[in-house]
Amino acid sequence: MKRIIVFDAYGTLFDVNAAARTYAKMTDDDDFLSTWEKLSSLWREKQISYTWYYTSMGYKTNFWKVTEDALDYALEYYRLGTSTNLRDDLLKLYRELDLFPEVLSVLKQLQIKGFRLAILSNGTNYMLNSAVKNAKISEYMTAVLSAEDTGFFKPHETIYAKVLEFFSCEPNEVIFVSSNGWDAAGGSAFGFSTLWVNRNSLPEEKMLWRPTWSGNDLNAVLALP
Ligand code: LAC
Repeated sequence: MKRIIVFDAYGTLFDVNAAARTYAKMTDDDDFLSTWEKLSSLWREKQISYTWYYTSMGYKTNFWKVTEDALDYALEYYRLGTSTNLRDDLLKLYRELDLFPEVLSVLKQLQIKGFRLAILSNGTNYMLNSAVKNAKISEYMTAVLSAEDTGFFKPHETIYAKVLEFFSCEPNEVIFVSSNGWDAAGGSAFGFSTLWVNRNSLPEEKMLWRPTWSGNDLNAVLALP
């Protein structure tokens, strides 16, 4: 098995629905309680869409700005946009997202087996460092690589190239792990071996580049050949 394993962050290690879910536990606002799942889903959908729009236009921006704008869209769509506190609280919670339940144990086992582990994410350095610190997983990561300095987002090849630069390695030495089908496709196109973590039992993306492997959660990394 290859010795370098690189994880996407949002949706793969960190549960992007945790911000709205946590807020739902703290509020008695019926409008929020009845829509938080849809709000969270639209927030994520718009966030990712904006990354693709900007990068395909060649316009440089950053993932925090895109995350704020996507939340504004989703709050307006569900007519929850009148409370500044709600916006601020959701953004604060986004910097402290929960890990998916199995993640910590998988990282521990991989570290014991001697793998070099890293994160490669669209997230800004500030967002990623905050989330990694809050989740107490920095001790497992050799590197936390952010797209921020490029101004572009995955699946632009300049982002995946950061892994080669950091580890001084070739693409075929890397296993890239992502729950986003399009990101796994991007990793495969770049030449990584890829594991698609299909958390929501979705069909495989019908793109030119297929994941090398797929699994239901991060435990699938432990079962790789
Ligand atoms: C990331 C997004 C794609 O962490 O989830 O890069």
